Amino acid sequence: MIKKFLDLGLQPLANKYQKKPTKLSVSKGQLYNLNVSFNTKSKLVSISKRIPSEKMFNSKYPYRSSMSHTMRTSFKNLSKKIKKKFKPDLLLEIGSNDGALIKNFKKENVIGVEPCKNLAKITKKDGFLIYAQYWNFDLVKKIKKRFNSVDVIYSANTITHINDLNNVFKSINYLLSNEGILIIEDPSLLECLKKNSYDQFYNEHIYLFSALALKNLLSKFGFEIFDIENLSTHGGSLRYYIKRKTNKKQKISSRLNIQIKNEIKFGLHKFEAYKKFSVNVLKSKIKLLQILNKIKNDKKKILGYGATAKAVTVLNYCNINKDLIYNFTDTTPEKINKYMPGKNIKILRYNKNILKNYDYVFLGAWNFKKEIIKKEKKFVKKGLRFITHIPFPRILS
Ligand code: TMP
Repeated sequence: MIKKFLDLGLQPLANKYQKKPTKLSVSKGQLYNLNVSFNTKSKLVSISKRIPSEKMFNSKYPYRSSMSHTMRTSFKNLSKKIKKKFKPDLLLEIGSNDGALIKNFKKENVIGVEPCKNLAKITKKDGFLIYAQYWNFDLVKKIKKRFNSVDVIYSANTITHINDLNNVFKSINYLLSNEGILIIEDPSLLECLKKNSYDQFYNEHIYLFSALALKNLLSKFGFEIFDIENLSTHGGSLRYYIKRKTNKKQKISSRLNIQIKNEIKFGLHKFEAYKKFSVNVLKSKIKLLQILNKIKNDKKKILGYGATAKAVTVLNYCNINKDLIYNFTDTTPEKINKYMPGKNIKILRYNKNILKNYDYVFLGAWNFKKEIIKKEKKFVKKGLRFITHIPFPRILS
């Protein structure tokens, strides 16, 4: 049974930054109701609305994996580990974005699949083989004809963006070699509930995986998780190492059982945990608005740092307008001088003096809190204060 537990109100498409202030409407399909549900049988958490992939992932996609030091380092370390542990002759990445991971491999050893043509172009220019297409069975048939099989398939923050999971895993099953390894990395549902990070939910994040749910799903395709890593990226992610059940070469790590136990202890298998979460989300909204309104009444100015898709959920759910957060700033070229969807707050180009015009910073990219505060420490010394809503709204001391 599918049970709804969270209503985040009317939301725009998260990564659709507006060229000019625009009043979005439901009738034009620019706003949709963002509800989140729990499947009591499969344990899968998903948003109710499905936006066609072509509307979200196209040649204007603005998210670039290489934009933060944290992500570049994470991909570099992972590539070293994959080479050492699995020694793949051929690795394929589903959702290779701007090449942050595959650039760490030799060109002849990697294939990227990236439907956002603007991003695919960046890596193609460097000589990598990129299929600028969506990951599905039709594409995989083509790849199989050319390469027969692939030793490692890797995908970070992509599989949860694809509606038809059966097609995703059927395609992986078809292409992965018998002893091949599948590595999936996505935000962790357990961390999301623990951190009350309701902003993990937006139109692109169709699913939020737990180890419990993924285990059930993989089993249908003859796959099983044999190891798991907790990562700090994207506010708390899980990296799943997966193999065919018939492959006895890899041992099952105790880390898998620890994760499943932790998820069950928290109640991820039962609806009650999700109901509790939704109460906490509402409390978070009330508290954040209190903080922002107090600052506004004190005639101080707030800058949003990181014009993230997550921040779009927060702004629209909490009804935060320009009177509360005056501007955003971001380093991503594709976002600069555009407006936060639904709330029309302008995104300014980041420069190292930008913070001097503000009294407070709201961490839109709260998942990079450490990196950002370190980078801006000279302003902190001068009295600039950071605001975060994770795990609960507060001004950081
Ligand atoms: P994400 O949380 O979805 O990964 O997005 C992070 C966004 O924050 C991305 O647009 C880049 C931006 N950002 C900055 O503008 N400056 C920074 O120092 C960091 C770490 C991120």
